Amino acid sequence: MTPLAETRVHVALGDRAYDVLIGRGLIGRAGDLIAPLLRRPRVAILTDETVAGLHLAPLQAALSAAGITSSALTLPAGEATKSWDHLGRAVNWLLAEKIERRDVVIALGGGVIGDLAGFAAAILRRGVRFVQLPTSLLAQVDSSVGGKTGINSPHGKNLIGAFHQPSLVLADIDVLASLPPRDFLAGYGEVVKYGLLGDAAFFEWLEANGPALRDDPALLQHAVAHSVAMKAGIVERDETEQGERALLNLGHTFCHALESATGYSARLLHGEGVAIGCALAFDLSARMGLCPQEDPSRVAAHLSAMGMKARIADIAGDLPDDAALIALMGQDKKVVDGRLRFVLARGIGQAFVSDDVQRTDLAAVLAASR
Ligand code: GLY
Repeated sequence: MTPLAETRVHVALGDRAYDVLIGRGLIGRAGDLIAPLLRRPRVAILTDETVAGLHLAPLQAALSAAGITSSALTLPAGEATKSWDHLGRAVNWLLAEKIERRDVVIALGGGVIGDLAGFAAAILRRGVRFVQLPTSLLAQVDSSVGGKTGINSPHGKNLIGAFHQPSLVLADIDVLASLPPRDFLAGYGEVVKYGLLGDAAFFEWLEANGPALRDDPALLQHAVAHSVAMKAGIVERDETEQGERALLNLGHTFCHALESATGYSARLLHGEGVAIGCALAFDLSARMGLCPQEDPSRVAAHLSAMGMKARIADIAGDLPDDAALIALMGQDKKVVDGRLRFVLARGIGQAFVSDDVQRTDLAAVLAASR
């Protein structure tokens, strides 16, 4: 293994402050890294079937080497696990395991497990601490940091939940090697988002280095750490999304409509929808005269160079018409007083929130992306 010091990002949230460590071999060191948090040498792990097969035994061995006993509940992999049923199962299992108020729950998995385990920890005995061990690129750069936890409802994604910050996040970049290329690229959609929303120099860096990221741990660590540092800054300034944190939703109004239209199925992964949504947000911004005309082409060119979906036309199969997609956007959590809210941009790295979008511009942008 190439020696590479881990990067530490501190999320300064007063009495809810915590560190995110980004580096190689962190699962193998998890026992020593988690031990300082524990009041007794015992933890409960929530994970999923896919991740358990790859990373549960090494994690439990590392905990055991540090004298920490652990038990694990393995849930089915996939978005459907973010449900009342599985939440109830997880909470009742934690109670049956006699996890106490001062204990720590470990979330070992991608965004689904992180969100569900975080919510279970938030409501168990009115709140226990939890540690995130994110195993997908998307979870490492986005969902494991910032304390959004929850489950889905038949009415929409993430509509039931709580803000509950983790006590530690260990982003082991070695685990990303086991991701299927499509999942890796979907996570990369969230990495690009950071450059597009607030850091043009990072976007330029991604244009130059993105294609080599997967095979170069130093580049990958930099990309994850920079994304996490950007997110940490935003969360520190606006923990509960009263303002600036909404910028993290760049591309998401489009994405949520496309995910809903494709039945939250494997036809469109969340990060793929974010990437297409970012491209559409720049199309819309250029059409409204807000950003330079060349910016949307630059965004689309980078997504294409990465081998990613960049347009609605890249989604396989039929989709509802533009009017139906716009109606789906009306279900978005960001709708206020019935007005759609979009994250738009004045240029690459200069995003802002707007509720002043004309339906004709929206329809034109959707039509051009088909
Ligand atoms: N994933 C967006 C946020 O954490 O606010």
